[in-house]
Amino acid sequence: MTPELMEEGAQRIAAYQAAQAARVGQTESGGRAAGIGRILKSGEVDVTHGRILYLDDVSVSFDGFKAINKLSLDIAPGELRCIIGPNGAGKTTMMDIITGKTRPDTGTVFFGSTIDLLRYSEAEIAQLGIGRKFQKPTVFEQLSVFENLELALHTRQGRERDVWASMTFRLNDEQSDRLLEILHTIHLSDSATKLAGNLSHGQKQWLEIGMLLMQDPKLLLLDEPVAGMTDEETERTAELFLTLKGKHSLMVVEHDMGFIRRISDIVTVLCDGAVLAQGTLDQVQNDERVIEVYLGR
Ligand SMILES: Nc1ncnc2c1ncn2[C@@H]1O[C@H](COP(=O)(O)OP(=O)(O)O)[C@@H](O)[C@H]1O
Ligand SMILES: [Mg+2]
Repeated sequence: MTPELMEEGAQRIAAYQAAQAARVGQTESGGRAAGIGRILKSGEVDVTHGRILYLDDVSVSFDGFKAINKLSLDIAPGELRCIIGPNGAGKTTMMDIITGKTRPDTGTVFFGSTIDLLRYSEAEIAQLGIGRKFQKPTVFEQLSVFENLELALHTRQGRERDVWASMTFRLNDEQSDRLLEILHTIHLSDSATKLAGNLSHGQKQWLEIGMLLMQDPKLLLLDEPVAGMTDEETERTAELFLTLKGKHSLMVVEHDMGFIRRISDIVTVLCDGAVLAQGTLDQVQNDERVIEVYLGR
């Protein structure tokens, strides 16, 4: 989430609270809220070819430097794929390309077998069901955990400037159920009314993951999710990711090998903007080329 979105979000929640206060006595069911609930359901992604994400021969240069160099990679629906690689390997740039933040010079990037991601904007890609978590948590510190999750539903539409939608937005039953379920999943049920600013670093990270989950993404991209976490928080995050696997497809970039060992099936090693090796963690850790890269050349 960008700072501008955060600023707008803070304004919107104030408007929302005011609207809610004014709404006391109104009926709960039907009407506009039910309509919003329907819009929130996004379309299906065609995974009949066994891939939720498909990158082929993707390259991008920055000032002549090939940050991504003929990268090909795919991910199966429900898979939890771990990506490792030395600093500067192109891991974050790859996520930038998938999410539409950076356009590759050449190559193919598909979401399922029919959605050509290169034809969509960053906002549209988020709406298609690709959620991204940056390294630094960007929760609304001055709002409660509950409000942060509530707000996350609302930003899905890419209608940040739609004041009318803000004023009339409220959770329907299905959305409330999902919010409570996600609170439980991210281990924050007991902290629902707590200000996000008062959470620990790890809890903020979980809240941000919860905010992504509110949008029910099909694919989640997580860049160094356990950086700065305590051992206990890291273990809880591993458990969380293992619960998400299957329901969502996940791409996790991380340096913490203990964490990778705990959650990984297939590990992809990125180096110099391309796939250097792929396999189980043991396989890639015993690969001569990988050892060489990690020992430094
Ligand atoms: N917007 C950009 N402009 C110029 N160089 C960039 C840009 N983004 C990334 N790079 C360069 O591309 C390379 C890959 O970076 P990055 O994807 O951040 O690697 P990783 O996440 O694997 O550490 C680095 O050498 C980095 O300096
Ligand atoms: Mg990075």
